[in-house]
Amino acid sequence: MNVIIIGSGYVGLTTGSALAYIGHNVTLIDKDDDKIKCLNSGNVPIRERGLKELLNEARATIRFTSDWDDFDQQADVVIIAVGTPSKENGDADLTHVEEVAAIIGQRLSKGAYPVIVNKSTVPVGTARRVGSIIEQTLRRRGIFQNVHVASNPEFLREGEALFDTFYPDRIVIGVESQAAGDVLRRLYQPLIAQDFIPPQGLPRPERFAEPTFFSTDQASAELIKYAANAFLAMKISFINEFANLAEKVGADIAEVAKGMGLDKRIGPRYLQAGIGWGGSCFGKDTRAILHTGRQYDCEMRLVQATIDSNERQREQVVRKLKEHMKALRGRTIGILGLSFKPNTDDLRDSPAIAIIRHLNELGAHVKAYDPMTMRKCQDAHPELFVEYCETAEDLFENCHAVVLATELEEFRHLPYDKLGKKMKRRFLLDGRNVLDESALTQAGFIYRGIGRCYESWEEESSSQAAQGL
Ligand code: UDX
Repeated sequence: MNVIIIGSGYVGLTTGSALAYIGHNVTLIDKDDDKIKCLNSGNVPIRERGLKELLNEARATIRFTSDWDDFDQQADVVIIAVGTPSKENGDADLTHVEEVAAIIGQRLSKGAYPVIVNKSTVPVGTARRVGSIIEQTLRRRGIFQNVHVASNPEFLREGEALFDTFYPDRIVIGVESQAAGDVLRRLYQPLIAQDFIPPQGLPRPERFAEPTFFSTDQASAELIKYAANAFLAMKISFINEFANLAEKVGADIAEVAKGMGLDKRIGPRYLQAGIGWGGSCFGKDTRAILHTGRQYDCEMRLVQATIDSNERQREQVVRKLKEHMKALRGRTIGILGLSFKPNTDDLRDSPAIAIIRHLNELGAHVKAYDPMTMRKCQDAHPELFVEYCETAEDLFENCHAVVLATELEEFRHLPYDKLGKKMKRRFLLDGRNVLDESALTQAGFIYRGIGRCYESWEEESSSQAAQGL
């Protein structure tokens, strides 16, 4: 099939390269000339596992352009995948989506009936709005025809976006006509049947079940995206609240999560307790759905509580540091990891940044080390007072405490024994519960995770003091 994709961000690029790989002819249009030049020269402007290799494999069937004259009138499908940033009030900003809809209306020829697909995360009703903008623009050109607009939300995790595209749990489409649904079923048929040869580096998981192709109405499809993200964020906030309680009552949250997750109705995923969720979607989408709730006089208390709970969770780190060393002013705190999760250089809504901001306010000296994101953090957050370190060794030097904020694989295998000796006080706060507690304790650290059970605080502190640590 012939496919046009508008927008070459995470969603547009991964979707485009995957569709090209499974045999469609893809034209990717982006107004950003630099991005297009970068893509045409064989590079990839974003960091996403396997994307560069996949684009190289699919190069014969995908082309990149910033010229709307390349809009293919033979296209069967036009996918809108432009950004929908947050407005001040939490609402999604639809400027880009609406601009693109108007351009499609200016470009479509009489008798061309591609299915217009909305992949951007948009408030309920946007598919209808996109349809009406296109139809109005066409009418102004003397073309009186209906367009088919479908909602087709993505559920891609950053860093795993290609994996999630090739091996989804489900493909959701929201359509108003059987014909549009049939076109999209054909578009995704290789993914639905799982009869494509897996790309290099992205093997099909063992016993992978064919994804469900779920066709519903437009509004439901639009709401599914928000409901799914709000639910996942709530699941994490939920386990984090229990982690805080587990600490008080002497339970271990990893055990609690395991026991809960064994119930098939609950499932084990997104029950990893820690310093809270971040990233480009959970925060933005929970705020957007709250805004929609307000617009329609519908209180979304659980969503609000999810956001509040997440903010409190970030404060847990500072609370634990205060508990351990009382006044933080003049103390040196090292932060291991800056991105909101591993294997991405994305800093959006990252808990680490919120923690640094809070530590700055309290007058602590903050050092940070993250192999992927330091330069980006410096540029994006000039307001933060941070001493960026080139190595983990530099980070540990003279610290009174180190906080692991992102569970990078590298951090699991640092020579903590050696690093501890460089610290003023060996206190390690594992904000992701990924380090080996006994190894760290043996190396002389006071180790604290989130929601874990420990011996008496005073006993350990005094035994460390006795050892002169
Ligand atoms: C998320 C959704 O998973 C995806 O479906 C949606 O389309 C976009 O938002 P992403 O933001 O890439 O994807 O990250 P994800 O891997 O889901 O993690 C989000 C945040 O939750 C991270 O900060 C992560 O550290 C945190 N998290 C995740 C936990 O704290 N505990 C968990 O058990 C899982």
